[in-house]
Amino acid sequence: MAKVQKRYACQACGSVSPKWAGQCADCGEWNTLVEDAGAVVTPFQARHNLQSGGRAIDLTGLNTDAPLPDRMPTGIAELDRALGGGFVAGSATLIGGDPGIGKSTLLLQATAKLASAGKAVAYVSGEEAADQVRLRARRLGLGQAPVQLAAATSVRDILTTLGQGAVPDLLVIDSIQTMHSDLIEGAPGTVSQVRAAAGELIRFAKERGTAVVLVGHVTKDGSIAGPRVLEHMVDTVLSFEGERSHQYRILRAIKNRFGGTDEIGVFAMGEDGLDEVSNPSALFLTHRDENVSGAIVFPALEGTRPVLVEIQALTVRLASGATPRRAVVGWDSGRLAMILAVLEARCGLSFSTAEVYLNVAGGYRISDPAADLAVAAALVSALSERPLPSDAIAFGEIALSGEVRPVAHGPLRLKEAAKLGFERALAPVGVKETAGMRLSGFARLGALVDHLLGRG
Ligand code: TYD
Ligand code: MG
Repeated sequence: MAKVQKRYACQACGSVSPKWAGQCADCGEWNTLVEDAGAVVTPFQARHNLQSGGRAIDLTGLNTDAPLPDRMPTGIAELDRALGGGFVAGSATLIGGDPGIGKSTLLLQATAKLASAGKAVAYVSGEEAADQVRLRARRLGLGQAPVQLAAATSVRDILTTLGQGAVPDLLVIDSIQTMHSDLIEGAPGTVSQVRAAAGELIRFAKERGTAVVLVGHVTKDGSIAGPRVLEHMVDTVLSFEGERSHQYRILRAIKNRFGGTDEIGVFAMGEDGLDEVSNPSALFLTHRDENVSGAIVFPALEGTRPVLVEIQALTVRLASGATPRRAVVGWDSGRLAMILAVLEARCGLSFSTAEVYLNVAGGYRISDPAADLAVAAALVSALSERPLPSDAIAFGEIALSGEVRPVAHGPLRLKEAAKLGFERALAPVGVKETAGMRLSGFARLGALVDHLLGRG
């Protein structure tokens, strides 16, 4: 038998190394390397296997008459939207998010709804006692839903139990980090345990046609379940995001083998659980101050869905030569540095002696590059202390050359803004006219700056 080599897996990023070290060479975390029980294939074995005779496998075409997999809409429209229409039978879904963001609440509401609609649903909590979950259900007014509830952490016990009776349509495991597989050694929550427990549960899903939902806590670097190991094992990865200090939550599809990954579901955490928010723009634009410089509304696009958010900029002149601060909330700080550089180099505006603060209102996070023009407009307005018109929106991508580039789905953005009462738009040239919107098209950032400062 080949000598079993020891190996060590980083609990933060999942990278494997043959030697123990105090610091992970890949992610730089300290004290995260733990001996991993996985079997190691040595180069010798690998070569040997390649040469000896394996079984022939079938190679076939792409054509199929197989029916589409069964979808189970939960009846919570925002959740179904993020899932691409509902949970898919026999699939595995991972829902990640910071502790306390509302994963258990959302899944309790979804399971209750499905159970009330006649589906067989099991909810296994490894984090809370059954009574705790029941109390929460009662408080949410879901106490009567016929959900099969258990508090357990042994994967073998769970699968034995579920394998005996009628197999559930949906199984929720809350959370995968608390589950323990006795196939391998190690404490729950370690990379190898999480991987093994998830592997067993996913196999159960595929064999029995149950839709399995795994809850995963996100670590501080933002990856689900510490290592990214789970993301490639499951069919769908959803991320539940939001600031705990703000009400709203966004459910975002990161990976979906059965649908698109650009849809989001929006919820608000209220007194009795998560409420669906079918008009997110109204939520993010509730409190708008009129006639304040440095603020403009940006029509962000989430998949096919526009979300209007307010971008706020503040500049503070520094008296002496101290290094000025740049602070960003809700946007990319590298991108802000770039916009500042373009404003300086191409438009002659100097921010070098000013502190710059940029904030996306409501705790929303923008990843859409079309925000460039809105950010630039907010910065110019803040620096010049000239308020932007409160009925205006702005969008467009800015190149390093100072050129304003067109962006995807201009008309969709304009339509949403018009719906909410906005009347004019600062946009790249060539965007199609939309009823009720006055368009100002800009080919270069310099032209926008001149327009805002009333020059030329
Ligand atoms: P929870 O679903 O337990 O979060 P997770 O499973 O992601 O760790 O959500 C807990 C938070 O939500 C908790 O801080 C309280 C808040 N909450 C409400 O504000 N209203 C409610 O009706 C419920 C059930 C929770
Ligand atoms: Mg929870």
